[in-house]
Amino acid sequence: MSTASRSILITSASGNIGQKLIPLLLSTLSTASFTLVLPTRDAARLRSKLALPDALSARPNLVIAEGDTANVPWLESLLREHAVDTVLSNFAHVEELILTLNLWSACEAVGIKHLIYISACMDTSLEAVRAGTLRNVLAAHVACKFPAEQRLMYGSPPFSWTILGPTLFFQSDQMFKEALLKDGLYNFPMGRKGSSRVDTADIALGALRAIEDGGKSWGGKKIMIGSREAYKAERVAKLWGDALGRDVTAMGARSEDLKMLEDALIPHAGGAWARDLVLMARQFDMDGFGMTDEQYQEQVRFLGKEASSYEDFVRKTAKAWKAEA
Ligand SMILES: NC(=O)c1ccc[n+]([C@@H]2O[C@H](COP(=O)([O-])OP(=O)(O)OC[C@H]3O[C@@H](n4cnc5c(N)ncnc54)[C@H](OP(=O)(O)O)[C@@H]3O)[C@@H](O)[C@H]2O)c1
Repeated sequence: MSTASRSILITSASGNIGQKLIPLLLSTLSTASFTLVLPTRDAARLRSKLALPDALSARPNLVIAEGDTANVPWLESLLREHAVDTVLSNFAHVEELILTLNLWSACEAVGIKHLIYISACMDTSLEAVRAGTLRNVLAAHVACKFPAEQRLMYGSPPFSWTILGPTLFFQSDQMFKEALLKDGLYNFPMGRKGSSRVDTADIALGALRAIEDGGKSWGGKKIMIGSREAYKAERVAKLWGDALGRDVTAMGARSEDLKMLEDALIPHAGGAWARDLVLMARQFDMDGFGMTDEQYQEQVRFLGKEASSYEDFVRKTAKAWKAEA
């Protein structure tokens, strides 16, 4: 894909990945002049989450469009108006699948060239399904990645595509700050098999690489992004305990632990999303959430670097929390 006058639409720019990706795209030489079209339900919230310096936020190639991201004709009009050639498709929460497939129908209607889909680290192929990979997939927001990815893999869409498969974000640990500092509890069950961890900055770098590539070398591929190590419950508790200089207990994945987790989540997340996260935790406990050596090495080739260190993240974050106290 030619790099001249490219135009990229990015959903969830105010989210965990978008907050790292937008400043990166605007400040990287190869992408700084691309038009970035950011549909959002709340423009003021998006601007505050991005917290861009004036020189970047005033760029004429930064288009923040406020509207209903479930309104497909509106998304389609943005794609046409800004002659978008590449879409980064990233939705979360209970409507993830419908928002995703609806957006892709708009991509098809306007004839975009390349789609980048933020999914999760797992094999969603028909071979994997036949071998039983869905057996313990209990959570809807995990299950929905199977039909979405299969639409790309087997549906012959009229655009090239690259899927990014991140593992569990480092930044999710920010949600456990109060429990860690007050009760010395890491209140998410990391499980017996453990989970690979990923810095959202590495996912943003992956998105930048996929945008630069435009499907030339990485089209039709899924790249997993995360640490080689799968961190188990006791290991994570020890890392946080050492960094905070106190005892930290790991949360288990027994039914009473999961009940406690759900009760804590419901006031913030609502009932449907809280249960979905609990079901994900049960799945992780049974299956783990990790990557193979081969997948890790492919990531290193794709990103051009090793994965960021979870241990460094824990140390830096604990230091910052202690400095605030
Ligand atoms: N968190 C993890 O550890 C993890 C791990 C692996 C994979 N993933 C996957 O990565 C993707 C992004 O997850 P995330 O946790 O980083 O989420 P996020 O992007 O931080 O999610 C919040 C975003 O959702 C957008 N949104 C748009 N329409 C929405 C709607 N109808 N309802 C709710 N939100 C809407 C919001 O944008 P506006 O309000 O600006 O419109 C907001 O920016 C998901 O597919 C997730 O499953 C996450």
